[in-house]
Amino acid sequence: MDLDAFRWLLTDDGAQLLARARQVADRPALAQQAELRRHATPERVAAALTQAGLRQRAVAKFGDDAARLWFTSDGLEQATRRRVADHRAARLRAFGAGTLLDLGCGIGGDLMAAARVGVTAAGVDLDPLRVAVAQANLAALGLPGAVVVADAADVDPAPFDVVFVDPARRGARGRTFSPDDWTPPWPLVASLLERDACAKLAPGIPHDLVPDGVEAEWVSDDGEVKEAALWSGRLATCARRATVISGGGLATLTEDDDPGAPVVPLGRYLHEPDGAVIRAGLVTAVAARLDGGLLDEHIAYVTTDSPDATPFSRAYAVQEVLPYREKALRTALRERGIGRLTIKKRGVDVVPEQLRRRLDLRGDAEATIVLTRIAGEGACVLVEPLAR
Ligand SMILES: C[S@@+](CC[C@H](N)C(=O)[O-])C[C@H]1O[C@@H](n2cnc3c(N)ncnc32)[C@H](O)[C@@H]1O
Repeated sequence: MDLDAFRWLLTDDGAQLLARARQVADRPALAQQAELRRHATPERVAAALTQAGLRQRAVAKFGDDAARLWFTSDGLEQATRRRVADHRAARLRAFGAGTLLDLGCGIGGDLMAAARVGVTAAGVDLDPLRVAVAQANLAALGLPGAVVVADAADVDPAPFDVVFVDPARRGARGRTFSPDDWTPPWPLVASLLERDACAKLAPGIPHDLVPDGVEAEWVSDDGEVKEAALWSGRLATCARRATVISGGGLATLTEDDDPGAPVVPLGRYLHEPDGAVIRAGLVTAVAARLDGGLLDEHIAYVTTDSPDATPFSRAYAVQEVLPYREKALRTALRERGIGRLTIKKRGVDVVPEQLRRRLDLRGDAEATIVLTRIAGEGACVLVEPLAR
């Protein structure tokens, strides 16, 4: 979709075609096109059908708002999901930010969230289409804010209380993990982190990339780690934080909550920490909170004797320890009539899909096994997931 096609979609005629695209959404693709071609040119029909499809895809990130927001395919893929953006905006609000500069605002995922909590937000992006989309999104939600086409490197952040930057991590050859390939580039991001700022980075960033005095917050949504947000200046409140968002709300943990935890024998329960906790290096904080210990100093499983749960981990009841060796394990699983097997593993060199194929199980029962190391030895534990 080019800028002209997008601008046309914003007109009354465009809105009508989009409404028609929604009405025929459950028909086969060719029938949809044939119906819409009675009203508009092929380019406009393509733009309307694409937008209707993107709005459907966007529900996962933006919920009910998706039906009235605007997207490009890449812009949607790169946008921060609503619950994560809302959390960031709430932190900005709690800090007392009155104004925010979003350098590389894309279609406006973070911009909308900031504006929603009353932070006056200005967005900048190199791409004129994304700027137009972000503007349309603020307008669609009735939110204030300005968005302009500019290179982040040319914008003076001085007048703003806080700067936010979410560098694009996809180069010409797809997703890129090297900070040298991000745009805006890492040196610019690092220079912004010398003031009150927030940078959204990939969860897999090495800890040594985080400058001294900057907080790294790993954020997960529904069990999936979405980002590492770096908070600098007066916004930094700790060194490492894990924030876990779910339908039930938000919970957060920092190194101040981590007195350490011992390695202990397998207890009656096993707890699998959330990925944000693991990335933040706070597994022992979860063990301490549960009054438990680690199965192995280097492996992210916690064990306890009490069924207490935390929002930071998934709990399993230990049923029995099975043989670790494959042949004996197959016999044990067959004896128990187990045909469907969920295999979890940590710290051992096993490919679950390959193991499941080799085990060649038949039977009606369903089970979960955890393959890991206990006291340095390979171990297989039969577990039952506890209701959350
Ligand atoms: C990951 S996206 C931002 C997504 C946004 N936070 C959201 O939630 O919708 C990064 C954006 O940075 C823009 N960008 C990359 N380099 C830039 C630069 N030097 N100046 C301004 N914008 C830039 C890209 O066009 C892209 O839209």
